[in-house]
Formats: sequence, C-alpha cells, structure tokens
Amino acid sequence: MEFETICVRGGEKEYDRTGALSVPIYQTAAFAHPGLGQSTGYDYSRSQNPTREYLEHVVAALENGTEAVAFSSGMASLTTLAALFAPGDHIIVSDDLYGGTHRLFTHLATQCGLVFTFMSTTDAALVAAAFRPATKAVFIETPTNPMMHVTDIAATAALCRERGVRLIVDNTFLTPVLQKPLVLGADIVMHSGTKYLGGHNDTLAGLLIVRDGALAEKLRYFSMSFGTGLSPFDSWLLIRGIKTLALRVRRQEENARRIATWLEGRPEIRALYYPGRKEHPQYEISCRQAQGFGAMISFEVADPSLVRQVLENVRVIRFAESLGGVDSLMTYPVLQTHADIPEEKRLAQGINDRLLRISVGIEAAADLIADLAQAFGD
Ligand SMILES: Cc1ncc(COP(=O)(O)O)c(C=O)c1O
Repeated sequence: MEFETICVRGGEKEYDRTGALSVPIYQTAAFAHPGLGQSTGYDYSRSQNPTREYLEHVVAALENGTEAVAFSSGMASLTTLAALFAPGDHIIVSDDLYGGTHRLFTHLATQCGLVFTFMSTTDAALVAAAFRPATKAVFIETPTNPMMHVTDIAATAALCRERGVRLIVDNTFLTPVLQKPLVLGADIVMHSGTKYLGGHNDTLAGLLIVRDGALAEKLRYFSMSFGTGLSPFDSWLLIRGIKTLALRVRRQEENARRIATWLEGRPEIRALYYPGRKEHPQYEISCRQAQGFGAMISFEVADPSLVRQVLENVRVIRFAESLGGVDSLMTYPVLQTHADIPEEKRLAQGINDRLLRISVGIEAAADLIADLAQAFGD
C-alpha cells in the first residue's frame, strides 16, 4: 500500500468483525480471561489495548518500522526511552533542541548519572570526534526546534553503525510524510504525536518506532512498567488524525513556503530560519534526505518591541505554545518552549528576545499573510 492509503486504511490489520469503519475505542482497564492460564491476548490496558495496538500498527507502517510503541506524550516516550541507558553511558545530542527534551536530559545528567555532550550535529566530522568509548547513542532533532538546523541522517547513521551506537531521531517536525529516518539508517524514531500526527491540537501523544523486535520488546516492557502508555481514547484521536496526515502536511508546507517568501521581503525581519530557503546552510542536505521542508518557520524581528505587538495583534494565527496542528500558532521560544534552557546556552543558540516561531496551519495562505501584515502594523 502507498503512504496515503496506509494513513486512511491503516494497512492490512483488521481490528474487529463488525465492519465498523471507525476503529472501536476499547475503553476498558482489564480484559476477562477465557480460562485459567488463558488470555485473549489482552489482559490489562497498561500492557496493551486493542485501540493503542492499532495505532502502533499504523505508525510503524508509516515510518517503515516493524513496531511502534505509543505513549501519553512525547516527553513520556523520551522518559521511557531513557531506561535503555545506565549511569555512565554517554549520549551525543543536538545542542538546539526542544526545551522540554533539554530539561529531561539535564535531569538525567544531574540525577541519574547519564553523560550528555550537547553539540551541533550538522557537521559529521565534529560528531565523529565526539564519540567516546562509553557513547551509547546519538540523539538528533532535524530540523531542530526552533533554529531549524538540519543534520545529515544517513552520514550520522553510518558513524553510529561503525561504532555500534544507536541513532535516535526526533522526527516530529517533518513527519514520515516528508522524512523517514529509519530508511536513512536510524535505529529509533521518536514523535511528539501531539503535533502533526494528531494534527488538531486536541490531545497529547508520543511514539517510538523501531525495526528491531528485541528493542521493541524492551520498550514495551518499560512502558508497561512505568505506565506511560497512551489511553484508548487518545489512541483513537491519533488514528483519526492520521487519516488526513499526508494532506495536512503538504498543505501546511505549501502555506509555509508562501509565508517564508513573504517574510523574506519584509523590512521588520532581521533573520529568517526556514530549511526551504536556498540560503539555508543545510539546504542541500534537506533536498537529499527529505521530501519537503516542513511548515515550521522561525524569524527574528529587527526591533524587539515588535514581538509584543505581533503576538498581541495576530487574529487568525493564535499565540500558543504547540505546533503541527491545522491551526497556525505563533510561539515566543524565550518565554515558552525554551524558557528552562539557561540564558547563556539559549543565546548561544540564537534563541533571543527577538525570535518568534510560527507553526503554519492549513488556513488560506492569503489570510495568514494578511494577518501577519496587520500585526506588523500595515
Ligand atoms: C520536537 C519536539 N519533541 C518533543 C516534544 C515533546 O512532546 P510532548 O509535548 O508531546 O510531550 C516537543 C513538544 O513541543 C517537540 O516540539
């Protein structure tokens, strides 16, 4: 089946015998046993639930994985993933990173003995030099949140493979519509399903996708032990959202390209970060490894007082913290998504008081541009 068909039809897996077109929500904590020592395959929803299982089947197929595990949020998936590592293990991480991931990794470093090297992963030679005997994983976002740095996934995967180290890719920004890290050699793909996969800003979810059965089994065991699995209703929301994933992401990207072009010509803009611009330092890598550039744009305004003006005057675009849904949202990373990153580190990344981030939705691009124009004061 082609990607769009899997989104709608969910692959080959049947989920019940009634012919229901919408996957049933198995809203149950436990399942009765047919007899002593017998199981229907489901015992307790913390271990597995048919609605969650169906979602996992769909997402694994979309990412070209063999198995996926669904969690109650992106952060729940990362917290669970952390159980793969032991004190002393070393992990190389993109230095530009979602603030919550940075917060979790900092906690794991100070409280749990994991060792992180935060660095730019855009230069494979620098990454190669950062490996240590204790290195167990490389974790990248690409493009990064919010500065849109792009890492060469295949080159990084090759470095990891030579050393028996796992490559983990947060694929939240591009989704499997535009980028498939497992095909490029990554070992684990992570998603904040809250974003494009859900797509409607109405639920939180996280996903880990792998191609290694033994690794999937470990992750399921951790999920069952920690109780981090996704609820049946939220699983259903994701299944429904994914039906339109390909349409939404392509439309969002089309809108984003138009907005990026419009922003480029505005005198208020001092810097524009969008992987689809030819001037983007990793434009060639994006063209090679992804089928598009996504719908996230960050920009710096020349005059910091414009930040308040824009955030308080946008009407179609909403001033809110999330991304990836059908509604366009604008975020102020310094005070929101990246507030917990120490100032010095933040500023070194370019996350300053002039930086705004837009998650472009599916509205009419003309309305979004008109909204930005009036917020700029036209
Ligand atoms: C790139 C990225 N990864 C992970 C997360 C965390 O996901 P969640 O908010 O679903 O816990 C986010 C949230 O904004 C994100 O943007």
